[in-house]
Amino acid sequence: RSFLQILGRTTLIGLVAGVGSFYYITQRERHPGSQLPFDDTKKTLVVLGSGWGATSLLKALDTTEYNVVVISPKNYFLFTPLLPSVAVGTLNPRSIIQSIRYITRHKTRGVSVIEAEAQAVDPVGRTVSFSDNSPIKGETSTRTIPYDYLVISVGAEVQTFGIPGVQEHACFMKELADAEQASLMQKQFMDCIESAAFPGQSKEEVERLLHMVVVGGGPTGIELSGELHDFLEDDLKSWYPELASKIKITLVEALPSVLPMFSKQLIDYTESTFKESKIDIMTKTMVKEVKDKSVVLQMPDKSMKELPCGMVVWAGGNKGRQVTKDLMARLPADQTNRRGIIVDDYLRMKGTDGIYAIGDCSATSYAPTAQVAAQQGAYLARMLVQMAKKDSLENKLETLETEQTKVADDEERKRIADEVNVARGQMAKIKLRPFHYSHQGSLAYIGSEKAIADLPFMNGNIASGGMATYLFWRSAYLSTLFSLRNRTLVATDWLKVRLFGRDVARD
Ligand code: FAD
Ligand code: NAI
Repeated sequence: RSFLQILGRTTLIGLVAGVGSFYYITQRERHPGSQLPFDDTKKTLVVLGSGWGATSLLKALDTTEYNVVVISPKNYFLFTPLLPSVAVGTLNPRSIIQSIRYITRHKTRGVSVIEAEAQAVDPVGRTVSFSDNSPIKGETSTRTIPYDYLVISVGAEVQTFGIPGVQEHACFMKELADAEQASLMQKQFMDCIESAAFPGQSKEEVERLLHMVVVGGGPTGIELSGELHDFLEDDLKSWYPELASKIKITLVEALPSVLPMFSKQLIDYTESTFKESKIDIMTKTMVKEVKDKSVVLQMPDKSMKELPCGMVVWAGGNKGRQVTKDLMARLPADQTNRRGIIVDDYLRMKGTDGIYAIGDCSATSYAPTAQVAAQQGAYLARMLVQMAKKDSLENKLETLETEQTKVADDEERKRIADEVNVARGQMAKIKLRPFHYSHQGSLAYIGSEKAIADLPFMNGNIASGGMATYLFWRSAYLSTLFSLRNRTLVATDWLKVRLFGRDVARD
């Protein structure tokens, strides 16, 4: 046989095996088996949220020892790092979400998933009240349930500092509602362009309509500006050649530089890339008001300036949710940090018993990132298993010790005493270790196929562009996506955009 024939056969076998295992995995994931029912003798663990922290906890948790209840107003997990790609139509919003049941249905013991918003936590009575805030409600839409352990992982909402006009006129980039708004944002952007193309539009009005302002020079604002620039370069230049050169992106940041959490080298690289990409960065400039057709800025010299624009995207950072703030307000002596819930080294909410807080709703020394939330969730899952073991040994000891007092027979007493010693030995081995964060590096896409990375190895900083970086950035996200389904959908979206470009049709 020729070498080519052998190669052809090997390739074919590899292909069939690959397709076969892909099919097998998808089907196994689609058809989960039966689960253990709730058990009255087990403790109830209530988890609030279905984001990075909660999902990571649920993935790692052995549910055998708990009756787990998940309460979240969204019945899905959202992969936030790819949200800016949705805003410019690179990705379909549905490609980066996955129903939380996709995890819970694969657990040993069934998990109760409730699509509702937690309204109040009573740390004394150990209860959570929640309500169904979706458009369609049944006869019952509010409930209060007890918990033994409560994990708060409700994330944060967008910080607007009460600046007038932000809620009314700006687009956000935080949740899927925003992502849908984000694809709406693309529609709004396209509307601005089509209106600019309307015959007879004055030069000033064309300039205004084609001016896009991004507020906030944190990673969200930077990534979004980069994606907008790609949309302009890759697609709009082809379909709107007469207008594309007039499209302007301005990034406004109140601090002296963008990306304060990255090193100076990476900040410089980002700023010079933006300069080449013709994205204006205005630092030491604060947005004071957002109007229908403009933003009001306080300039570095404290003078005020009104900047006409067609659209404003707000990426001004995080603030606590109402449910978090209300709970903290019940514990004024212990919960004194305005950034979020104060926890100890074991992620226990200070001033409470049985309540844990993870992710963006907590105030720790770490940045509010997905990486931190995910590691905290996985840590807590391990802790909860240890705690269940400890609880069960404590129960066993209690029973044995009671038995010991009742038994008269010496031999029987000795047997129980041995068992007590064994249980005590096992108890002593259970060590609850404090949470330790291991930083795996930060990565941000800055447009033009360039990304910056601060890594805990290789000297720390990597700033590079080109196909290798682009592939590295994409493969890093692809590998951290939630499921094979998400990976397939995202990879397909990327391929579609490579082949056909982003859709500029407005529906
Ligand atoms: P979330 O993931 O926000 O989850 C909160 C959950 O709580 C949601 O399911 C929500 O529906 C639910 N919830 C809300 N209110 C209630 C309520 N009242 N009751 C019950 N449930 C409730 N971090 C990185 O490390 N790398 C990145 O590349 C990155 N990119 C990002 C890009 C964007 C555009 C954004 C916005 C953030 C990005 N982050 C990134 C930050 C990261 O998304 C957050 O740090 C992370 O989501 C925090 O996880 P969490 O579980 O605390 O909150
Ligand atoms: P952020 O808090 O990091 O940045 C918000 C920025 O907006 C701040 O620099 C602030 O000075 C600025 N700002 C606020 N109000 C303003 C105003 N009125 N005028 C002008 N500027 C104003 O928020 P961001 O970017 O949403 O990130 C939130 C968290 O998510 C961070 O911890 C970040 O690290 C993480 N994240 C990480 C990403 C990554 O690693 N690739 C991507 C996106 C977010």
